Amino acid sequence: MLIDLVVRNAQVLDGSGAAAFVGDVAVDAGRIVEVGSVSATRARREIDGTGRYLAPGFVDTHAHDDGAFLRHPDMTFKLAQGVTTTVSGNCGFSAIPARPGQTDASGGLLGRLAGDFADLEGYFDAVLAHGPAINNMMLVGHNTVRELVMGLDAREPTAAELTAMRAHITRAMEQGACGFSTGLIYRPGRYSRTEEIIELARAVRPFGGLYTTHMRNEGDGLLEAVEETLEIGREAGLHAHISHHKAAGRPNWGKVRDSLARVDSALAAGQQVTLDVYPYTAGSGRMIEYFNLERPNRALAEVIRIASCPAFREFEGRMLVDIAAERGIDVTEAVRLILTAPRGEQTLCIHFIIDEADIETNLRHADMMVGSDGIPDLRGRPHPRLFGTFPRILGHYVRERGVLSLPEAVRRMTSLAAATFGLVDRGSVRVGCWADLVLFDAATVRDTATYDDPQQLPTGIDCVIVNGAVAMEDGRHTGAGAGRMLRYRRSAYREQES
Ligand code: ZN
Ligand code: CU
Repeated sequence: MLIDLVVRNAQVLDGSGAAAFVGDVAVDAGRIVEVGSVSATRARREIDGTGRYLAPGFVDTHAHDDGAFLRHPDMTFKLAQGVTTTVSGNCGFSAIPARPGQTDASGGLLGRLAGDFADLEGYFDAVLAHGPAINNMMLVGHNTVRELVMGLDAREPTAAELTAMRAHITRAMEQGACGFSTGLIYRPGRYSRTEEIIELARAVRPFGGLYTTHMRNEGDGLLEAVEETLEIGREAGLHAHISHHKAAGRPNWGKVRDSLARVDSALAAGQQVTLDVYPYTAGSGRMIEYFNLERPNRALAEVIRIASCPAFREFEGRMLVDIAAERGIDVTEAVRLILTAPRGEQTLCIHFIIDEADIETNLRHADMMVGSDGIPDLRGRPHPRLFGTFPRILGHYVRERGVLSLPEAVRRMTSLAAATFGLVDRGSVRVGCWADLVLFDAATVRDTATYDDPQQLPTGIDCVIVNGAVAMEDGRHTGAGAGRMLRYRRSAYREQES
């Protein structure tokens, strides 16, 4: 009996953080069936792994791909990085719950997502109908739930509204979400008090899921926001996960050390806490969320670059200061010009607010995972993290900077993420695990996406396998759509039990 596939003679990194060993990995019916020395002429397909590393497929712990799975089911921008699973529904914005046919609350972050689905299973069905190239795990987002129940009202929920919100969260968890996400700088999340979040997070407790958060403040109030996050985790009895950990704005640079120290003391006290980071000094998001139009923040305006802007396509890829100079207006006036234009609220920007040294401090922390935070709007010039995050870790931070070792980087991007986000039988090269694998050249792997030219695929990633199917080879998409919709600590949705 022939098996499906064997990768031969690779340096196998099993995802545990252990050093690589030379060996073969055999795959059949979607799973890893043998690791070590596989006898000759046993497989239908042989891949020579000589001189390459074979690792579990990477897990993008912070994605906004809810809509991308419907619009770009090939998921090339993730697959080409070696990513085989994303965790979507972050920063409080998720595809579900939804009113069928109505666009989502994210205002463009999820790509004007609209579908016929109302709940997670409906969303999973819609995605699976497109044959997604990679796997997806979902969070249920606070902003989405709150908008559905109480619009964008800046007030506390009534008892009935709180009950309705909890019911949405419970339903998503029942259907396989891994947890509850917040985006407390965004509307309407920013209108909520800590007590509301604790009350809602408690709905996740019976499922043992996570609380993930884009915290209320990542700048001057970073440490207070970390306290709030830890309090929510404690009071709701949940594992707390801090998204895209950073200290935003020059006066705050270096504060990630204090914030990680606070995380360490919570860990020492027995609390479950993890984090993720993206390896870039710029953030990105909906521009309208960052400015008060009465008094636009000048320091922020000066470090902004336009990613996508339906109102002024000619501004895409340009710094706001240059746009302002060209028009002979003040930079704060340029902010108003863009945001008050028709569809101006859909503008996505890139803001250079992070210290390079803080990225390295973050990456040295043992509980730090990697999340791209990529916003999959391919019309303008998206932040390069959408295309480059994982190869950038391997090429720049591992090979060039030596901030962490290769086995350790792979552990953070695979087994640690799989254990945290409840990805069953994934994140390891081990017999019985799903065959999500990436074959890469540690000497050449590199991100090529830049701010000027962000939609560039990385180099040095030879082959990506998803659920046993070769999905990408030598930078070419094979067209395989073997991705699954994953359920927290359970079998995947509609998975055949073998
Ligand atoms: Zn965020
Ligand atoms: Cu995000």
